[in-house]
Amino acid sequence: MNVHDSEKIAGILTAKNYELAYNPNEADLIIFNTCSIRQKAEQKFYSQLGKLKILKKKNPKLKIAVAGCIAQQEGDNLIKKVPYVDHVLGPQNLEFFNNIFEEKEKILALEENPHLQYLELPIKRIDKVKAFVNIMYGCDNFCSYCIVPFTRGRERSRPSSAIIKEVKQLSEQGFKEVILLGQNVNSYKSQYDFPGLLRELNRVGENIKRIRFVTSHPKDFSLDLIHAIRDLDKVCEHIHLPLQSGSDKILELMNRKYSFKEYMKKIEILKKEIPNIAITSDIISGFPQETEEDHKQTINALREIEFDGIFAFKFSKRRGTKASQMEGHIAEEVKSERLSEILKIQDEITERKNKELEGTIQEILIEGFSEKSADQLTGRTRTNKIFVSQKSNKILPGDIVKALIIKGNKHSIFGNFLI
Ligand code: 5AD
Ligand code: SF4
Repeated sequence: MNVHDSEKIAGILTAKNYELAYNPNEADLIIFNTCSIRQKAEQKFYSQLGKLKILKKKNPKLKIAVAGCIAQQEGDNLIKKVPYVDHVLGPQNLEFFNNIFEEKEKILALEENPHLQYLELPIKRIDKVKAFVNIMYGCDNFCSYCIVPFTRGRERSRPSSAIIKEVKQLSEQGFKEVILLGQNVNSYKSQYDFPGLLRELNRVGENIKRIRFVTSHPKDFSLDLIHAIRDLDKVCEHIHLPLQSGSDKILELMNRKYSFKEYMKKIEILKKEIPNIAITSDIISGFPQETEEDHKQTINALREIEFDGIFAFKFSKRRGTKASQMEGHIAEEVKSERLSEILKIQDEITERKNKELEGTIQEILIEGFSEKSADQLTGRTRTNKIFVSQKSNKILPGDIVKALIIKGNKHSIFGNFLI
């Protein structure tokens, strides 16, 4: 979501003929588009911001803007704490970037924007193969640990017609994949509901070959959506369905509104209806009051479900959230130990699942050249697994090719093109 917001900020400024600087020393304006989902993201921002003090001294004309969720959360406190910050713009107020160079005073743009879903901002995309498309903004779920409903505001669905129009344009521009973005895409409601929107999008834009979406909330994950993934050729066989914990007690404390059994039931239907589905998830370790027994239930859940991959995090106290006020916070070392165990077990499962693909033929969308070696191409399977192969003269980013999988590793699969 943040990466895409950055594309919008860059879109606004390049539409006004400003250029991206590739070195902070050359910039007239430095923008931090911040994330505050966990403490670590916040720390990274403050340490980067600290480094700019000298630059600002050397070049008093340099302006510094802070956007994103830390901006929203801290507001004018940020300017009080760090006086060389010039502008503070929350994630619902990106259009204020339109006047950022003309504005003589410090901009403080933090209002809840009830019309955000109707705002169509220019976008400068960083990728040429796949494109992010917002379908909703904000979140109403108030999971007890989460800052998002406070920073991104109430849930608002973007009109279906605007989404369909954007996807058509992306197709005309040659994009191959769209990634629909929302905090909880399953509660999308406009002219269509979410499965209805997928059905419409599946019909538009002949260049678009793949449709993905993030994130689904298990409580709203419906049979209708399972059928849409099963039946629509462009919708990829991958679902990111954050479980967060395997313990019902913790799920309740988290205000997730489902039990492990209910989650499992949906997974079973999903696997039955779409046998080649890849499922990934998010897990939080060390939520307040999490006992060894609760943690074991999470470990058992990982073993039982066998996700294709997970993102796992230590619980991080976020100011203003319910969980930050709860009793029974867990010691940092215990959180770390539990996280290591979670990651170790999941790594084994992920590697095993990747190995199971050895000898199979997969459809790969080539995304670009490998960061590790210019001799290698990288891409993804429909199930969102990272694929690596030796470069071939006949294959370019954006191509969709069949490949024979030779080796499954922990974080990627390696194969040969079948051409
Ligand atoms: N601490 C740890 N992890 C968090 N997440 C959200 N808020 C927190 C927090 N306070 C994780 C959840 C969510 C993912 C995007 O980030 O697992 O699904
Ligand atoms: Fe945060 Fe929960 Fe909303 Fe996801 S669904 S953004 S975890 S409050």
